[in-house]
Amino acid sequence: MASSHCFAPLVFLLLLVGCSGRPIDPHATNRQPLQTSRPYNIAHRGSNGEIPEETAAAYIRAIEEGADFIETDILSSKDGVLICFHDVTLDDTTDVAEHKEFADRKRTYEVQGFNTTGFFTGKYPIITFEEYISIALDAPRVVGIYPEIKNPVLINQHVKWADGKRFEDKFVETLTKYGYKGSYLSKDWLKQPAFIQSFAPTSLVYVSNLTDLPKIFLIDDVTIPTQDTNQSYWEITSDPYLDYIKDYVVGIGPWKDTIVPVVNNYLQTPTDLVSRAHAHDLQVDFFSANTYLFDLGCMDVVPVNRVLTSPSIPMQVHPYTYRNENSFLHLNFHQDPYAEYNYWINEIGVDGLFTDFTGSLHNFQEWTSFNDKNASSLLHKIASMVSSYEKA
Ligand SMILES: *[C@@H]1O[C@H](CO)[C@@H](O)[C@H](O)[C@H]1NC(C)=O
Ligand SMILES: *[C@@H]1O[C@H](CO)[C@@H](O)[C@H](O)[C@H]1NC(C)=O
Ligand SMILES: *[C@@H]1O[C@H](CO)[C@@H](O)[C@H](O)[C@H]1NC(C)=O
Ligand SMILES: *[C@@H]1O[C@H](CO)[C@@H](O)[C@H](O)[C@H]1NC(C)=O
Repeated sequence: MASSHCFAPLVFLLLLVGCSGRPIDPHATNRQPLQTSRPYNIAHRGSNGEIPEETAAAYIRAIEEGADFIETDILSSKDGVLICFHDVTLDDTTDVAEHKEFADRKRTYEVQGFNTTGFFTGKYPIITFEEYISIALDAPRVVGIYPEIKNPVLINQHVKWADGKRFEDKFVETLTKYGYKGSYLSKDWLKQPAFIQSFAPTSLVYVSNLTDLPKIFLIDDVTIPTQDTNQSYWEITSDPYLDYIKDYVVGIGPWKDTIVPVVNNYLQTPTDLVSRAHAHDLQVDFFSANTYLFDLGCMDVVPVNRVLTSPSIPMQVHPYTYRNENSFLHLNFHQDPYAEYNYWINEIGVDGLFTDFTGSLHNFQEWTSFNDKNASSLLHKIASMVSSYEKA
């Protein structure tokens, strides 16, 4: 379906480079802005369905495939270096070796009590929080970051910084150092979008004193209490709690199987969690980046921010994790990951999706959302018109 359209963004980027006669300046203000008109494509630990998770190669691939945000877990090594780390697994089947810029980054970190050598199969070094940020800032379009304050209770017990600061302080200091600031959809935020996520509500409340960047409260399975406050799933998804936490966060990140329970691998009746979260309005000053100025003389595209009149938006819901492998797809979807995306976007109505397969989500959204992206669909049309002219 519509295969010519999915190549259009690529063609468009090539046109920009070719026309201006200079390479794209990664930090230039005229990069293609973050799309804000459809649910966010959040690349869970990079394009980790294809490449070992949380590696530079996985993030680079996710950006190529159309991620709006690249997602990561931030932990601290024993000596206080913030790193991207989950359970890095080995997989020898990819071409990260071609990205020479990361080839020499062999490291050993002591992470939560064990030594982890960060150079797996000679190809996949652990990257630091700062390296991860650089990958997003160097992207040819605006790509957001979505770092998690991971296991803060444990890290604050085991890692001591010389200046007496906490893990959360170091986490926010790193973001601030690289210019990340601003409330959700503000002008500053749209320049360098970031969501801060955590399963620990006290960490989110604490960092809300340090930065106005938007925060997302992650919610675990129904049987697992919060790691810091020992609150039950039922308590933290109740209306009174959502009322409380909305002063600190712009959304929640629940496990998808708690929103739509599953029995014998079949979906059951959806809960009301998404509609209840959406009923909690957030007051934000927000801008739209969906307006463009065209300099047709040279195809430069300049995002123009304008203040919208709407004073509030619903609390966001970004469930995790969408996985295309048959073993993860519930039987209702007949082994079709596009059917799963369609269900969650068009029936459940989520605002962002953590996916292991950035490329398939991007394709789905390109194929199905022409009607609501006027400026960018115009660009696609121009690009495909020019490309067919070139072929003639
Ligand atoms: C990690 O390696 C360092 C250096 O070899 C060593 O001193 C330390 O005891 C090791 N830590 C653990 C938990 O094995
Ligand atoms: C936030 O800062 C205020 C003023 O410094 C302080 O009173 C309050 O305890 C802080 N809140 C948290 C959660 O750290
Ligand atoms: C957490 O809460 C449960 C249920 O209220 C209680 O049984 C348990 O002892 C608590 N755990 C801690 C560490 O406080
Ligand atoms: C662009 O799309 C938005 C959302 O669908 C719509 O409100 C707006 O009127 C459209 N603008 C133009 C110029 O068609």
